[in-house]
Amino acid sequence: MRALTWVLTAFLVGIPPALAQTAQRAPGAAPRTPDVIYVPTPPEVVEEMLKLAGVKKGDVLYDLGSGDGRIAVAAARKYGIRAVGINIDPERIREANENAKKAGVADLVKFRNEDLFTANFREATVVTLYLLPELNVKLRPRLWSELKPGTRVVSHQFDMAEWQPQKQIEVNGRTIYFWTIPARKP
Ligand SMILES: C[S@@+](CC[C@H](N)C(=O)[O-])C[C@H]1O[C@@H](n2cnc3c(N)ncnc32)[C@H](O)[C@@H]1O
Repeated sequence: MRALTWVLTAFLVGIPPALAQTAQRAPGAAPRTPDVIYVPTPPEVVEEMLKLAGVKKGDVLYDLGSGDGRIAVAAARKYGIRAVGINIDPERIREANENAKKAGVADLVKFRNEDLFTANFREATVVTLYLLPELNVKLRPRLWSELKPGTRVVSHQFDMAEWQPQKQIEVNGRTIYFWTIPARKP
């Protein structure tokens, strides 16, 4: 209904309907610029992130800031699990959907063009991150309050300040951190 109203209004004020359709954003889609640029996680680091998170059948993985979708696609391909990628940049979402199709996991993987700071990720049992230290810290209260206790969180390269990781490994000069969401706020 909102889309129809938008198109009718656009027609009345003289905006071509095709442009009006483009300007219409899906609910939750974010209009702002990325908080961090796209830098892909190398494949061997992706593999170790999934291992460190202990990904297993039945998990639902969310990659917050999913880039070209490689972490979600790898999780679906290797472990047969459902995975969701959230990215603010529609170009990345297009790439990620292509990659899921090429890998034959389009039925297991979904990419959402949303801002990770407002997106709903409550159903996750595994969360993966490759952001920036201050973005991890900004996201931390939502991880604690919205994820189920026991949900695993892994971050490539950046820690969570005073929230100490339970595990930390090095892979080709990259650090991967691991936490589980506690029953009570740390
Ligand atoms: C460093 S890349 C990591 C990509 C992928 N997770 C990986 O490890 O290969 C960070 C990604 O976060 C996205 N991003 C930045 N700010 C965002 C935000 N507020 N909401 C959703 N995605 C965001 C960028 O577009 C970029 O694709």
